[in-house]
Amino acid sequence: MEPRSDIIKELVTMVLASAKYRRLSPDLVRTIGAKELAKGRSLKDAVKATKNKLHQVAGMYLPGATHYGAWLAQLTSAFQSGDEEQIRSVCRQIMAAHTSTRERLPILDQLYGATLAGLGPIARVLDLACGLNPLSLCWIPLADHATYFAYDIYTDMMDFLNGFFAEFSAFARAQGNRRFSGAGAVLDIIQATPDQHADVAFILKALPCLEQIDKSAGRRLLESVHADHILVSFPARSVGGKAKGMVENYEAGFYALVEDAGWSITRFEFATELVFRISK
Ligand SMILES: C[S@@+](CC[C@H](N)C(=O)[O-])C[C@H]1O[C@@H](n2cnc3c(N)ncnc32)[C@H](O)[C@@H]1O
Repeated sequence: MEPRSDIIKELVTMVLASAKYRRLSPDLVRTIGAKELAKGRSLKDAVKATKNKLHQVAGMYLPGATHYGAWLAQLTSAFQSGDEEQIRSVCRQIMAAHTSTRERLPILDQLYGATLAGLGPIARVLDLACGLNPLSLCWIPLADHATYFAYDIYTDMMDFLNGFFAEFSAFARAQGNRRFSGAGAVLDIIQATPDQHADVAFILKALPCLEQIDKSAGRRLLESVHADHILVSFPARSVGGKAKGMVENYEAGFYALVEDAGWSITRFEFATELVFRISK
């Protein structure tokens, strides 16, 4: 039975009242909450179950406090120095605050060079369920004139990334004939796919999160995203550090997901991440 809309509304208000989730997309909270209520749970139990799900798909990747104001100040000062090594070092430090990008730090120097090789100039990128991955921009081989669109479900994270994009854009301009523009927005990618067309879309380590909420979300997203190529990745070990069978399981799941799609697939395996490049 469909839960009553006034009860869903109350659930959304209760979840967003907690400090941990107050900056989350209300759309996503509504989707998850409605599913929990539809299972026949009481409002109190549905609030608890919704918070648990939100922890599994988002909260657990940000284990500590986020210091967006201080981080942006550090980035601004690094960009003003014009010293690329300093910029990279600050980006690395901040990326360590999100579990997903922290796991990627040891392979950052290899990952984008290897997986984007041979694709020609990359002028438009979509980064879906991006976390702090846009801070990898210094490692991504982009065309001299490039646009980057990033989406996740936290308003404060997207505000921070927009500040970062503005700094990166000024830095690119100062380097002569490079032009960069970036934009971040809150979007629940289970319910909507961005309109923009990209040369490459990143869906990095995100499918397992989406599929916890909606089993069909992964294939739907891969079909609907407007991109010539898509990088889809999976963690090679669990957040707790265990690696047993993960690569094999994710690989089997991925090939089952894209079966019959007729896309060309290239596989890349790194120490901490398994990546597939889909070319449509
Ligand atoms: C495992 S992390 C991956 C982050 C990033 N792609 C990376 O690899 O560094 C999953 C990310 O998905 C985001 N997320 C979860 N559900 C989402 C949804 N329905 N729509 C958009 N983003 C979502 C979370 O906030 C989190 O940042």
